[in-house]
Amino acid sequence: MIESPKAPNGLYSSRVNFRGEAPIKPLLRWVGGKQLMTSHLAKLLPGGVDEGVYHEPFLGAGSLFFYLQPRRAVLSDVNDDLVNTYRCIRANCGLIARYVARHKGLDSEEHYFRVREQFNQAKYYTAAQAARFIYLNRTCFNGIYRVNKDGEFNVPFGWRDNPIFPGIRHLGVAARALKCARILSASYEKALDGAARGDFVFLDPPYPPLNGTSFFTHYTADRFSRPDQNRLAAVVRELDKANCRVMVCNADLPWIRRLYAGFNRVVLDVARYVTSHNKKHKVSELVITNYDTDVIDGGV
Ligand SMILES: C[S@@+](CC[C@H](N)C(=O)[O-])C[C@H]1O[C@@H](n2cnc3c(N)ncnc32)[C@H](O)[C@@H]1O
Repeated sequence: MIESPKAPNGLYSSRVNFRGEAPIKPLLRWVGGKQLMTSHLAKLLPGGVDEGVYHEPFLGAGSLFFYLQPRRAVLSDVNDDLVNTYRCIRANCGLIARYVARHKGLDSEEHYFRVREQFNQAKYYTAAQAARFIYLNRTCFNGIYRVNKDGEFNVPFGWRDNPIFPGIRHLGVAARALKCARILSASYEKALDGAARGDFVFLDPPYPPLNGTSFFTHYTADRFSRPDQNRLAAVVRELDKANCRVMVCNADLPWIRRLYAGFNRVVLDVARYVTSHNKKHKVSELVITNYDTDVIDGGV
């Protein structure tokens, strides 16, 4: 069952995570975000996952992190604006909530472009800047994060009917979850330097294009190319040797299957918005683990 994202406190009311708590919904819209898959991914976790450190080095909207709220975590992403926003939320969620509420009251196409301009001109990452990031994310076209060659955010206005903005309760529970985490702006390889025996590593990289288009690759100025996917699979094998428990999500493509030969594999059929016309398509996604699960392939 998919619950409405409109709950004001940002919690899933009919679910509990492995710690018996109500899972938190992600604060942001993010291309490739796993919000609709989190309860399925949670069923694929290894036992004792909260005994070690939880690592999520392709953080994006952090759907699985917020769902689980692990006790100790290392979270990271190469997107500096995203990482700085989470750091600000952790430090100052009350002030950010007030700024976001003000943007909500002023929301319009004109306001969007004014905020986008201010966002691109700001010199420091303050609570006001984090609130701008959240406002732009909730109102821009398809929740895309894209910058031009000068590093300026240049996504058009989204023309959404009823954009939802996180309020103080949602930001507050998210900030509390983030207080248990180190938050790094780093490539996944660097961020995983400290991963040790017994830790759990969740890897959700940008996906390769499924059909010659590249909806899943425009997160930053850089793309995640085929050599990047090869390197990631090698890192997974290193983590496996180091006795970390690893879960990887990726597109269900023959060459991706080959990269992870020998690992446990579950196929999930996911209904995703993958076109610019907001049309839903069923796509298959692979969940690869280096431990056994008792889940069989299925729909989400
Ligand atoms: C598919 S998204 C993650 C979505 C996330 N699991 C969620 O539920 O929202 C992939 C993320 O990886 C980040 N990324 C891309 N290349 C990276 C790299 N080399 N190291 C770390 N993060 C990277 C992108 O900025 C993006 O936020």
